[in-house]
Amino acid sequence: MIKLLLIVWAAFVAVSHAGPVPSVPGDNSHYVEGESRYIWMSDDDTEPRLVDLQEPVDEDLLLTRNGANNQYWLYTRSNPTNPQQIVHGNANTIWNSNYGTNLPVKILVHGWTGSMNSGMNPLLTSAFLAVMNCNVIVVDWRGVAGGNYVNAVNGVPNVGQHVGNFLTWLINTTRGNWNNVHLVGFSLGAHVVGNAGRTTGNRPARVTGLDPAGPLWHSNGNALRASDGQYVEAIHTDGYLQGIMTAIGQANFYPNGGRNPQPGCSDSICSHDRAPSLFAVTIRYNRHIGRLCANLSQAQSNSCTGSTFHMGNSIINKRGNGIYGLQTGASWPY
Ligand SMILES: *[C@@H]1O[C@H](CO)[C@@H](O)[C@H](O)[C@H]1NC(C)=O
Ligand SMILES: *[C@@H]1O[C@H](CO)[C@@H](O)[C@H](O)[C@H]1NC(C)=O
Repeated sequence: MIKLLLIVWAAFVAVSHAGPVPSVPGDNSHYVEGESRYIWMSDDDTEPRLVDLQEPVDEDLLLTRNGANNQYWLYTRSNPTNPQQIVHGNANTIWNSNYGTNLPVKILVHGWTGSMNSGMNPLLTSAFLAVMNCNVIVVDWRGVAGGNYVNAVNGVPNVGQHVGNFLTWLINTTRGNWNNVHLVGFSLGAHVVGNAGRTTGNRPARVTGLDPAGPLWHSNGNALRASDGQYVEAIHTDGYLQGIMTAIGQANFYPNGGRNPQPGCSDSICSHDRAPSLFAVTIRYNRHIGRLCANLSQAQSNSCTGSTFHMGNSIINKRGNGIYGLQTGASWPY
């Protein structure tokens, strides 16, 4: 009986500290970074899914589901929609594919619950192939990404290391050039590409994090860092909620204040998923221009008036740093 009372009391204390379980799908108005236990997160169909940030990690699962299961799918102008698989360690899969050894390499990495079929992949693949002749390689890490959020977070470093080792093998085998390599990751995928870049010795020309995931990443040494590539940028659209607000890149863009609600959005699900769409538009048109901010609060209030710098785009040798704000439209092409 006393034990039961203790359990009830403990549950009451837990609820009073972390707040009640949120009940309106997609409504993260309750969420306090670093304190709240529950958050609505976008799943691969951009539907809200309730995540318990205290869910236990299944270490056994991470032994069998890890970066060794990553798959790499090549798209080029010769095969823009039917991918060819490149198998790490099997050079013939490169020679028998449409891989262009002297062309830029774009690596795309999906987020939590995603796969090669995630919406961001055709969106960004078609945008890149429309504006440049290049190799687009879509990473599929669905095994780890498909676990509960906490498990997926814990699996990110290993998945990223495998991506990094795959790239080292690819560049070496094709006698390629790191100055041609651009990594792009969305949400949890942003931290995957950070770890991948680090594994290669920070050699990729460019690393782009699209609304890098926030929950469990604020004081996480495995998060995307400004040193993970020659140039690292982040585009923040749902800061303090599903995305991280911290300026973790060399250049950090905060469209419309970098937070929910983005124009035309009514919740955090939409604001988070706005990041790949905005990036796709900058690849195609390259006309979203940030203004340098004095600090993050200026970015947040969308009142930056400093020097100009283009957000996103496909330019491989892009360089810059600082915090940038800009306004966008509410619908494509924003
Ligand atoms: C690079 O490729 C060469 C053969 O082209 C191979 O002998 C060497 O082991 C490779 N190095 C790495 C780090 O993969
Ligand atoms: C941010 O910069 C603006 C403009 O220089 C300044 O007025 C404001 O006090 C700064 N805010 C913080 C929190 O430093």
